[in-house]
Amino acid sequence: MSARQRVLVLGGSGFVGRHVAAKLSAAGHDIVVITRHRERARHLLLLPTMEVVEGDPCDSAVLARYAAGATAAINLVGILHERGRQTFERVHVELPGLLVAACQGAGIRRILHLSALGAGADAPSRYLRSKAAGEDAIAASGLAWTLFRPSVIFGPEDTFLNLFAKLSRLLPVIALAGASARFQPVYVGDVAACIVAALPDDETSGQRYDLCGPHVYTLEQLVRYVGEVTGTPRPIVPLGPRLASLQARMMEWLPGPLLTRDNLLSMQRDNVCDCAFPSRFGVAPSPIEAIAPGWLAPASRSSRFDSYRAQSGR
Ligand SMILES: NC(=O)c1ccc[n+]([C@@H]2O[C@H](COP(=O)([O-])OP(=O)(O)OC[C@H]3O[C@@H](n4cnc5c(N)ncnc54)[C@H](OP(=O)(O)O)[C@@H]3O)[C@@H](O)[C@H]2O)c1
Repeated sequence: MSARQRVLVLGGSGFVGRHVAAKLSAAGHDIVVITRHRERARHLLLLPTMEVVEGDPCDSAVLARYAAGATAAINLVGILHERGRQTFERVHVELPGLLVAACQGAGIRRILHLSALGAGADAPSRYLRSKAAGEDAIAASGLAWTLFRPSVIFGPEDTFLNLFAKLSRLLPVIALAGASARFQPVYVGDVAACIVAALPDDETSGQRYDLCGPHVYTLEQLVRYVGEVTGTPRPIVPLGPRLASLQARMMEWLPGPLLTRDNLLSMQRDNVCDCAFPSRFGVAPSPIEAIAPGWLAPASRSSRFDSYRAQSGR
């Protein structure tokens, strides 16, 4: 076991965050998660070495207060859609800068940051360009930084496979934008394992790691697969660029949109790795087929309901 650390985690309440927090706790580290809504992070409270505090991580006073006494910081904050004051600039660029300043002020040397595969100054979407600017802020910090750049991440609480599972159950036909876009989905447990393994590993300082699963799929193949696993296979109608853009434009008006035009721009470039999974972390990336049926297949759903019923005495 590595030396016990006190780790400040931003975005610890989210999908990736819950897995990172669980693995940090299992490794014996003390964890402080800052969340804007403590209620949303209540699933973390059972972890023995966890402190959940309420505050806005974009507030430098809040960051300074909780950085004091920490030995490392992990930033998992990210958004896919802009909404009001939650802009890509604020969340992906300014926040990493504020975290770097808080680390410097508190004497924290170690920082780990979750970016996204395809982030680049010349990327087609504002999401990916802002992620690149966030990487720059971390890399220019003078701290011992490590960056992770995953393709789309899957797992029981994801908003990716679960979205298509929901659509397959609800709709007779799926009209799919970006059907031919290629992805190399990576399991959330593998991403979390890499982050936690890197924490005490000095050799990973100054490195960027692209993280992809073992197989490449088009979006259409993934949606078809989800339909098969959930037992609700649906015809898929791939949308051309104009109809896809129209669909995204309409969805942008919905709360928590399923798709935006910026998302479509991200899909213009394949989200796949051009190198093997990093061997440094001792992780063999899991294929979707080995994991997803565990929560998507009808049998897994009914067994979950059975256990809820048993717990409630019905
Ligand atoms: N999921 C993927 O497929 C995927 C793929 C590539 C890269 N990534 C990157 O991985 C990271 C984690 O993603 P995720 O899927 O775990 O996201 P998530 O489930 O949406 O969680 C995002 C977290 O960020 C915090 N947050 C959101 N907006 C914020 C804001 N305006 N100010 C402060 N905190 C805010 C939330 O905390 P509270 O609401 O509790 O405050 C939440 O804990 C992100 O940087 C994302 O860009 C994800």
